[in-house]
Amino acid sequence: MKYIKKKFFIENVKVRNLTKKFSTPIYCYSYKKLKKNIMIFKKNFKNLNPLICFAVKANANLKLLKEIKKFGLGADVVSLGELTKALKAGIQTKKIVFSGVGKTSEELRFAIDKKILLINAESKSEILEIERIAKSKREIVNIGIRLNPNTDAKTLKQISTGKKQDKFGLTEKYFLELVKYLKNSKFIKLKCLSVHIGSQILSNQPYEKMLKVVDRIIKKSNYKFEFIDLGGGMGISYDKKIKNLNYKKYAVAIKKVLKKHNTKIIFEPGRSIIGNTAILVSKVIYIKHGSNKNFVILDAGMNDLMRPALYGAEHQIIPENKKNVFTKKTYEFVGPICESTDRFLTAKKFQKLNEKDLVIISDVGAYGMSLSSNYNVRLKPAEILIKGYKINVIKKRQRLKDLI
Ligand code: LLP
Repeated sequence: MKYIKKKFFIENVKVRNLTKKFSTPIYCYSYKKLKKNIMIFKKNFKNLNPLICFAVKANANLKLLKEIKKFGLGADVVSLGELTKALKAGIQTKKIVFSGVGKTSEELRFAIDKKILLINAESKSEILEIERIAKSKREIVNIGIRLNPNTDAKTLKQISTGKKQDKFGLTEKYFLELVKYLKNSKFIKLKCLSVHIGSQILSNQPYEKMLKVVDRIIKKSNYKFEFIDLGGGMGISYDKKIKNLNYKKYAVAIKKVLKKHNTKIIFEPGRSIIGNTAILVSKVIYIKHGSNKNFVILDAGMNDLMRPALYGAEHQIIPENKKNVFTKKTYEFVGPICESTDRFLTAKKFQKLNEKDLVIISDVGAYGMSLSSNYNVRLKPAEILIKGYKINVIKKRQRLKDLI
Protein backbone atom coordinates (compact mmCIF):
# COMPACT_ATOMS: atom_id res chain seq x y z
CA MET A 1 0.00 0.00 0.00
CA LYS A 2 1.63 3.17 -1.15
CA TYR A 3 1.35 6.38 -3.14
CA ILE A 4 2.45 6.31 -6.74
CA LYS A 5 2.50 9.74 -8.33
CA LYS A 6 0.45 11.00 -5.37
CA LYS A 7 -2.35 8.47 -5.89
CA PHE A 8 -2.97 5.70 -3.38
CA PHE A 9 -2.45 2.12 -4.54
CA ILE A 10 -3.07 -1.28 -3.02
CA GLU A 11 -0.44 -3.49 -4.60
CA ASN A 12 -0.74 -2.61 -8.32
CA VAL A 13 -4.28 -1.30 -8.23
CA LYS A 14 -5.22 2.34 -8.04
CA VAL A 15 -7.79 2.71 -5.28
CA ARG A 16 -9.67 5.42 -7.19
CA ASN A 17 -10.36 2.94 -9.98
CA LEU A 18 -11.80 0.49 -7.50
CA THR A 19 -14.25 3.08 -6.23
CA LYS A 20 -15.35 3.86 -9.79
CA LYS A 21 -16.30 0.24 -10.21
CA PHE A 22 -17.51 -0.70 -6.73
CA SER A 23 -18.50 2.66 -5.22
CA THR A 24 -17.80 3.48 -1.54
CA PRO A 25 -17.38 2.57 1.25
CA ILE A 26 -15.30 -0.53 0.46
CA TYR A 27 -12.94 -2.72 2.40
CA CYS A 28 -9.80 -3.53 0.35
CA TYR A 29 -7.30 -6.17 1.43
CA SER A 30 -3.75 -6.77 0.24
CA TYR A 31 -2.86 -10.42 -0.26
CA LYS A 32 0.83 -9.57 -0.13
CA LYS A 33 0.48 -8.11 3.37
CA LEU A 34 -1.48 -11.10 4.57
CA LYS A 35 1.19 -13.44 3.30
CA LYS A 36 3.92 -11.32 4.84
CA ASN A 37 2.26 -11.25 8.25
CA ILE A 38 1.88 -15.03 8.27
CA MET A 39 5.49 -15.52 7.19
CA ILE A 40 6.81 -13.16 9.87
CA PHE A 41 4.70 -14.84 12.54
CA LYS A 42 5.87 -18.30 11.49
CA LYS A 43 9.50 -17.27 11.24
CA ASN A 44 9.65 -15.68 14.68
CA PHE A 45 8.03 -18.61 16.45
CA LYS A 46 9.67 -21.29 14.33
CA ASN A 47 11.66 -22.71 17.24
CA LEU A 48 8.48 -23.51 19.09
CA ASN A 49 6.89 -25.30 16.14
CA PRO A 50 3.46 -24.06 17.21
CA LEU A 51 0.02 -24.78 15.85
CA ILE A 52 -1.23 -21.38 14.69
CA CYS A 53 -5.01 -21.13 14.85
CA PHE A 54 -6.29 -17.93 13.25
CA ALA A 55 -8.89 -16.23 15.46
CA VAL A 56 -11.84 -16.18 13.07
CA LYS A 57 -13.59 -13.44 15.06
CA ALA A 58 -11.01 -10.97 13.75
CA ASN A 59 -12.17 -11.59 10.20
CA ALA A 60 -14.60 -14.25 9.07
CA ASN A 61 -14.55 -13.66 5.33
CA LEU A 62 -14.69 -17.12 3.74
CA LYS A 63 -12.32 -16.32 0.88
CA LEU A 64 -9.75 -14.89 3.32
CA LEU A 65 -10.10 -17.96 5.54
CA LYS A 66 -9.37 -20.09 2.48
CA GLU A 67 -6.21 -18.10 1.78
CA ILE A 68 -5.15 -18.35 5.41
CA LYS A 69 -5.77 -22.09 5.33
CA LYS A 70 -3.41 -22.44 2.37
CA PHE A 71 -0.56 -21.32 4.63
CA GLY A 72 -1.32 -24.24 6.94
CA LEU A 73 -3.02 -22.29 9.68
CA GLY A 74 -5.84 -23.72 11.77
CA ALA A 75 -8.73 -21.80 13.33
CA ASP A 76 -9.82 -20.56 16.72
CA VAL A 77 -13.62 -20.33 16.67
CA VAL A 78 -16.18 -19.11 19.18
CA SER A 79 -19.55 -20.08 17.71
CA LEU A 80 -21.33 -22.61 15.56
CA GLY A 81 -21.23 -20.05 12.76
CA GLU A 82 -17.48 -19.55 12.94
CA LEU A 83 -16.88 -23.29 13.20
CA THR A 84 -19.06 -23.90 10.14
CA LYS A 85 -17.18 -21.26 8.19
CA ALA A 86 -13.77 -22.63 9.21
CA LEU A 87 -14.85 -26.09 8.02
CA LYS A 88 -16.25 -24.65 4.79
CA ALA A 89 -12.89 -22.95 4.21
CA GLY A 90 -11.37 -26.42 4.34
CA ILE A 91 -9.50 -26.03 7.61
CA GLN A 92 -8.75 -29.46 9.02
CA THR A 93 -10.73 -30.43 12.10
CA LYS A 94 -7.49 -31.37 13.83
CA LYS A 95 -6.42 -27.74 13.61
CA ILE A 96 -9.55 -26.21 15.13
CA VAL A 97 -9.97 -25.07 18.73
CA PHE A 98 -13.24 -23.80 20.15
CA SER A 99 -13.13 -20.97 22.74
CA GLY A 100 -15.81 -18.98 24.55
CA VAL A 101 -17.60 -18.75 27.90
CA GLY A 102 -21.08 -19.64 26.66
CA LYS A 103 -21.03 -22.53 24.22
CA THR A 104 -24.52 -24.01 23.94
CA SER A 105 -25.27 -27.75 23.93
CA GLU A 106 -26.01 -27.50 20.22
CA GLU A 107 -22.59 -25.94 19.60
CA LEU A 108 -20.80 -28.47 21.78
CA ARG A 109 -22.56 -31.40 20.09
CA PHE A 110 -21.60 -30.12 16.66
CA ALA A 111 -17.96 -29.62 17.70
CA ILE A 112 -17.86 -33.09 19.24
CA ASP A 113 -19.37 -34.66 16.11
CA LYS A 114 -16.73 -32.96 13.99
CA LYS A 115 -13.94 -34.22 16.29
CA ILE A 116 -12.12 -30.91 16.43
CA LEU A 117 -8.75 -30.74 18.18
CA LEU A 118 -9.92 -29.13 21.41
CA ILE A 119 -12.85 -27.53 23.10
CA ASN A 120 -11.39 -24.98 25.50
CA ALA A 121 -13.86 -25.05 28.37
CA GLU A 122 -14.31 -22.09 30.68
CA SER A 123 -16.50 -23.37 33.55
CA LYS A 124 -17.35 -26.45 35.56
CA SER A 125 -20.88 -26.41 34.15
CA GLU A 126 -19.54 -26.44 30.60
CA ILE A 127 -17.27 -29.37 31.42
CA LEU A 128 -20.18 -31.31 32.92
CA GLU A 129 -22.23 -30.57 29.80
CA ILE A 130 -19.41 -31.84 27.57
CA GLU A 131 -19.18 -34.95 29.73
CA ARG A 132 -22.94 -35.58 29.44
CA ILE A 133 -22.82 -35.27 25.66
CA ALA A 134 -19.69 -37.42 25.39
CA LYS A 135 -21.25 -40.10 27.56
CA SER A 136 -24.43 -40.16 25.49
CA LYS A 137 -22.35 -40.58 22.35
CA ARG A 138 -19.95 -43.05 24.04
CA GLU A 139 -17.05 -40.94 22.90
CA ILE A 140 -13.94 -39.50 24.47
CA VAL A 141 -13.73 -35.74 23.94
CA ASN A 142 -10.48 -33.79 24.06
CA ILE A 143 -10.64 -30.54 25.95
CA GLY A 144 -8.59 -27.71 27.34
CA ILE A 145 -9.42 -25.65 30.39
CA ARG A 146 -8.97 -21.91 30.22
CA LEU A 147 -7.11 -20.44 33.13
CA ASN A 148 -7.72 -16.93 34.34
CA PRO A 149 -4.16 -16.00 35.35
CA ASN A 150 -5.20 -12.71 36.97
CA THR A 151 -2.70 -10.85 34.80
CA ASP A 152 -3.11 -7.27 33.67
CA ALA A 153 -2.65 -7.15 29.89
CA LYS A 154 -2.02 -3.39 30.00
CA THR A 155 -4.34 -2.80 27.10
CA LEU A 156 -7.72 -1.07 26.70
CA LYS A 157 -9.95 -2.19 29.55
CA GLN A 158 -12.68 -3.23 27.10
CA ILE A 159 -10.38 -5.79 25.48
CA SER A 160 -8.63 -7.09 28.58
CA THR A 161 -9.65 -10.63 29.49
CA GLY A 162 -7.18 -12.07 31.98
CA LYS A 163 -7.91 -10.30 35.25
CA LYS A 164 -9.89 -11.91 38.02
CA GLN A 165 -12.81 -9.53 37.56
CA ASP A 166 -13.15 -10.60 33.90
CA LYS A 167 -15.66 -13.29 32.97
CA PHE A 168 -13.09 -15.41 31.16
CA GLY A 169 -11.38 -18.60 32.32
CA LEU A 170 -11.21 -20.22 35.73
CA THR A 171 -9.41 -19.03 38.82
CA GLU A 172 -6.46 -21.05 40.02
CA LYS A 173 -8.52 -22.82 42.71
CA TYR A 174 -11.28 -23.98 40.36
CA PHE A 175 -8.81 -24.77 37.61
CA LEU A 176 -6.89 -27.13 39.88
CA GLU A 177 -10.08 -28.72 41.19
CA LEU A 178 -11.23 -29.46 37.66
CA VAL A 179 -7.88 -30.93 36.65
CA LYS A 180 -8.23 -33.29 39.58
CA TYR A 181 -11.81 -34.14 38.66
CA LEU A 182 -10.92 -34.84 35.05
CA LYS A 183 -8.12 -37.25 35.94
CA ASN A 184 -10.88 -39.80 36.56
CA SER A 185 -13.25 -38.86 33.77
CA LYS A 186 -14.07 -41.68 31.36
CA PHE A 187 -15.39 -39.44 28.64
CA ILE A 188 -13.14 -36.41 28.74
CA LYS A 189 -9.45 -36.33 28.05
CA LEU A 190 -7.88 -33.16 29.40
CA LYS A 191 -5.15 -32.14 26.99
CA CYS A 192 -4.64 -28.44 27.22
CA LEU A 193 -4.21 -25.48 29.48
CA SER A 194 -5.42 -22.40 27.66
CA VAL A 195 -5.05 -18.70 28.43
CA HIS A 196 -5.77 -15.46 26.62
CA ILE A 197 -5.17 -12.29 28.60
CA GLY A 198 -6.39 -9.67 26.15
CA SER A 199 -5.96 -8.07 22.78
CA GLN A 200 -3.72 -5.39 21.25
CA ILE A 201 -0.92 -6.14 23.73
CA LEU A 202 2.21 -4.20 22.84
CA SER A 203 4.60 -5.08 25.65
CA ASN A 204 6.02 -8.47 26.52
CA GLN A 205 5.77 -7.86 30.21
CA PRO A 206 2.13 -9.03 30.61
CA TYR A 207 2.92 -12.17 28.61
CA GLU A 208 5.94 -12.88 30.77
CA LYS A 209 3.86 -12.50 33.91
CA MET A 210 1.18 -14.75 32.49
CA LEU A 211 3.78 -17.41 31.59
CA LYS A 212 5.04 -17.42 35.17
CA VAL A 213 1.53 -18.15 36.40
CA VAL A 214 1.10 -20.88 33.79
CA ASP A 215 4.36 -22.48 34.84
CA ARG A 216 3.43 -22.40 38.51
CA ILE A 217 -0.02 -23.82 37.97
CA ILE A 218 1.12 -26.66 35.76
CA LYS A 219 3.59 -27.65 38.46
CA LYS A 220 0.92 -27.43 41.10
CA SER A 221 -1.53 -29.50 39.08
CA ASN A 222 0.97 -32.30 38.73
CA TYR A 223 -0.59 -33.06 35.35
CA LYS A 224 1.01 -33.68 32.00
CA PHE A 225 -0.64 -31.34 29.51
CA GLU A 226 -0.14 -32.12 25.85
CA PHE A 227 -0.77 -28.50 24.81
CA ILE A 228 -0.48 -25.01 26.19
CA ASP A 229 -2.75 -22.69 24.21
CA LEU A 230 -1.49 -19.15 24.73
CA GLY A 231 -4.32 -17.42 22.89
CA GLY A 232 -3.65 -14.37 20.75
CA GLY A 233 -3.45 -10.71 21.61
CA MET A 234 -0.29 -9.66 19.82
CA GLY A 235 -0.60 -5.93 19.26
CA ILE A 236 0.06 -4.07 16.03
CA SER A 237 1.04 -0.53 15.15
CA TYR A 238 -1.98 1.67 14.42
CA ASP A 239 0.24 4.70 14.67
CA LYS A 240 3.81 5.28 13.47
CA LYS A 241 4.89 6.09 17.02
CA ILE A 242 3.95 2.62 18.25
CA LYS A 243 5.77 -0.58 17.41
CA ASN A 244 4.28 -4.06 16.98
CA LEU A 245 4.76 -6.54 19.81
CA ASN A 246 8.28 -7.95 19.79
CA TYR A 247 7.67 -11.61 18.81
CA LYS A 248 11.26 -12.68 19.37
CA LYS A 249 11.21 -11.67 23.02
CA TYR A 250 7.91 -13.46 23.52
CA ALA A 251 9.30 -16.60 21.88
CA VAL A 252 12.28 -16.60 24.24
CA ALA A 253 10.00 -16.35 27.28
CA ILE A 254 7.87 -19.24 26.01
CA LYS A 255 10.90 -21.38 25.32
CA LYS A 256 11.90 -21.03 28.96
CA VAL A 257 8.59 -22.51 30.07
CA LEU A 258 8.88 -25.32 27.56
CA LYS A 259 12.18 -26.37 29.04
CA LYS A 260 10.27 -27.27 32.17
CA HIS A 261 7.11 -28.62 30.58
CA ASN A 262 7.43 -30.46 27.35
CA THR A 263 4.19 -29.49 25.63
CA LYS A 264 3.09 -28.31 22.21
CA ILE A 265 2.22 -24.65 21.81
CA ILE A 266 -0.95 -23.30 20.25
CA PHE A 267 -1.41 -19.63 19.30
CA GLU A 268 -4.68 -17.94 18.39
CA PRO A 269 -3.62 -14.71 16.64
CA GLY A 270 -6.22 -12.59 14.92
CA ARG A 271 -5.21 -8.95 14.68
CA SER A 272 -1.50 -9.62 14.08
CA ILE A 273 -2.34 -11.72 11.02
CA ILE A 274 -5.04 -9.60 9.40
CA GLY A 275 -5.13 -6.15 11.06
CA ASN A 276 -2.85 -4.16 8.78
CA THR A 277 -3.89 -5.93 5.57
CA ALA A 278 -6.90 -3.74 4.82
CA ILE A 279 -8.12 -0.20 4.29
CA LEU A 280 -11.62 1.20 4.30
CA VAL A 281 -12.10 3.58 1.39
CA SER A 282 -14.70 6.25 1.97
CA LYS A 283 -15.97 9.35 0.21
CA VAL A 284 -16.43 12.78 1.75
CA ILE A 285 -20.16 13.56 1.52
CA TYR A 286 -20.11 17.03 3.06
CA ILE A 287 -17.73 19.34 4.85
CA LYS A 288 -19.51 21.30 7.52
CA HIS A 289 -18.02 24.32 9.22
CA GLY A 290 -18.20 24.26 12.99
CA SER A 291 -17.14 26.92 15.46
CA ASN A 292 -13.61 25.74 16.04
CA LYS A 293 -13.40 22.73 13.74
CA ASN A 294 -14.72 21.42 10.46
CA PHE A 295 -16.67 18.20 10.30
CA VAL A 296 -15.69 15.95 7.44
CA ILE A 297 -18.77 13.81 6.98
CA LEU A 298 -17.88 10.49 5.38
CA ASP A 299 -20.06 7.88 3.73
CA ALA A 300 -18.59 5.25 6.09
CA GLY A 301 -20.05 5.14 9.57
CA MET A 302 -19.73 3.31 12.84
CA ASN A 303 -21.78 0.48 11.40
CA ASP A 304 -18.98 -0.14 8.87
CA LEU A 305 -16.14 0.30 11.35
CA MET A 306 -17.14 0.07 14.97
CA ARG A 307 -13.76 0.19 16.75
CA PRO A 308 -13.54 3.97 17.25
CA ALA A 309 -17.08 4.20 18.65
CA LEU A 310 -16.73 1.09 20.79
CA TYR A 311 -13.25 1.46 22.22
CA GLY A 312 -12.11 4.96 21.31
CA ALA A 313 -9.69 3.25 18.93
CA GLU A 314 -7.85 5.47 16.46
CA HIS A 315 -7.34 4.46 12.85
CA GLN A 316 -5.17 6.79 10.81
CA ILE A 317 -6.91 8.54 7.94
CA ILE A 318 -5.04 9.64 4.85
CA PRO A 319 -6.13 11.25 1.57
CA GLU A 320 -6.37 9.09 -1.53
CA ASN A 321 -4.98 11.89 -3.66
CA LYS A 322 -1.99 13.64 -2.12
CA LYS A 323 -1.76 17.41 -2.43
CA ASN A 324 0.44 19.90 -0.71
CA VAL A 325 -2.28 22.19 0.57
CA PHE A 326 -3.17 22.03 4.23
CA THR A 327 -6.09 23.42 6.22
CA LYS A 328 -5.66 25.59 9.24
CA LYS A 329 -8.74 24.29 10.97
CA THR A 330 -8.98 20.98 12.79
CA TYR A 331 -10.85 18.28 10.91
CA GLU A 332 -13.15 15.93 12.71
CA PHE A 333 -13.87 12.87 10.60
CA VAL A 334 -17.35 11.59 11.33
CA GLY A 335 -19.87 9.19 9.82
CA PRO A 336 -23.46 9.90 8.78
CA ILE A 337 -25.09 7.97 11.63
CA CYS A 338 -27.30 9.55 14.26
CA GLU A 339 -24.97 8.94 17.20
CA SER A 340 -22.35 11.24 18.62
CA THR A 341 -19.94 8.31 18.95
CA ASP A 342 -20.05 7.97 15.16
CA ARG A 343 -16.72 9.68 14.78
CA PHE A 344 -13.41 8.31 13.55
CA LEU A 345 -10.62 10.77 14.18
CA THR A 346 -9.70 14.35 14.97
CA ALA A 347 -6.81 15.69 12.89
CA LYS A 348 -5.16 19.00 13.77
CA LYS A 349 -3.30 19.23 10.51
CA PHE A 350 -4.67 17.63 7.37
CA GLN A 351 -4.54 18.11 3.67
CA LYS A 352 -7.35 20.39 2.54
CA LEU A 353 -10.25 18.21 1.49
CA ASN A 354 -13.16 18.89 -0.81
CA GLU A 355 -16.54 17.27 -0.96
CA LYS A 356 -16.44 14.02 -3.02
CA ASP A 357 -12.76 13.45 -2.21
CA LEU A 358 -11.75 9.95 -1.19
CA VAL A 359 -10.05 9.08 2.08
CA ILE A 360 -8.38 5.92 3.30
CA ILE A 361 -9.03 4.64 6.83
CA SER A 362 -6.05 2.47 7.74
CA ASP A 363 -5.49 -0.93 9.36
CA VAL A 364 -9.07 -2.13 9.41
CA GLY A 365 -8.50 -5.80 8.56
CA ALA A 366 -9.14 -7.05 12.09
CA TYR A 367 -12.46 -6.46 13.84
CA GLY A 368 -13.48 -4.15 10.99
CA MET A 369 -15.90 -6.02 8.77
CA SER A 370 -16.44 -8.67 11.45
CA LEU A 371 -17.88 -6.08 13.86
CA SER A 372 -19.91 -4.28 11.20
CA SER A 373 -23.69 -4.10 11.45
CA ASN A 374 -26.79 -2.96 9.62
CA TYR A 375 -27.52 -0.16 12.09
CA ASN A 376 -29.66 2.58 10.56
CA VAL A 377 -30.56 -0.03 7.91
CA ARG A 378 -27.29 0.63 6.19
CA LEU A 379 -25.84 -1.89 3.78
CA LYS A 380 -22.63 -3.66 4.72
CA PRO A 381 -19.79 -2.66 2.38
CA ALA A 382 -18.18 -4.81 -0.28
CA GLU A 383 -14.84 -6.52 0.43
CA ILE A 384 -12.17 -6.70 -2.23
CA LEU A 385 -8.94 -8.67 -2.21
CA ILE A 386 -6.05 -7.41 -4.30
CA LYS A 387 -3.30 -9.74 -5.49
CA GLY A 388 -0.87 -7.84 -7.68
CA TYR A 389 -3.03 -6.56 -10.54
CA LYS A 390 -5.85 -8.96 -9.72
CA ILE A 391 -9.08 -7.66 -8.23
CA ASN A 392 -11.20 -10.22 -6.46
CA VAL A 393 -14.57 -9.32 -4.96
CA ILE A 394 -14.60 -11.52 -1.88
CA LYS A 395 -17.90 -10.19 -0.60
CA LYS A 396 -20.46 -8.21 -2.54
CA ARG A 397 -22.00 -5.11 -1.06
CA GLN A 398 -25.33 -5.94 0.52
CA ARG A 399 -28.40 -4.89 -1.41
CA LEU A 400 -31.38 -3.17 0.08
CA LYS A 401 -33.54 -6.16 -0.79
CA ASP A 402 -31.29 -8.34 1.46
CA LEU A 403 -32.49 -6.25 4.37
CA ILE A 404 -36.12 -5.55 3.63
N1 LLP B 1 -8.27 -16.08 21.42
C1 LLP B 1 -9.29 -15.70 22.21
C2 LLP B 1 -9.81 -16.64 23.19
C3 LLP B 1 -9.83 -14.41 22.08
O1 LLP B 1 -10.83 -14.04 22.86
C4 LLP B 1 -9.30 -13.52 21.10
C5 LLP B 1 -9.84 -12.17 20.92
C6 LLP B 1 -8.24 -13.98 20.29
C7 LLP B 1 -7.74 -15.26 20.49
C8 LLP B 1 -7.61 -13.13 19.21
O2 LLP B 1 -7.01 -12.00 19.74
P1 LLP B 1 -6.11 -11.02 18.81
O3 LLP B 1 -4.87 -11.80 18.39
O4 LLP B 1 -6.92 -10.67 17.63
O5 LLP B 1 -5.82 -9.88 19.68
N2 LLP B 1 -12.89 -6.28 19.00
C9 LLP B 1 -11.70 -5.90 19.72
C10 LLP B 1 -10.81 -7.08 20.03
C11 LLP B 1 -11.53 -8.18 20.78
C12 LLP B 1 -10.70 -9.40 20.96
C13 LLP B 1 -11.52 -10.52 21.45
N3 LLP B 1 -10.83 -11.73 21.60
C14 LLP B 1 -10.95 -4.83 18.92
O6 LLP B 1 -11.44 -4.45 17.86
O7 LLP B 1 -9.92 -4.35 19.35
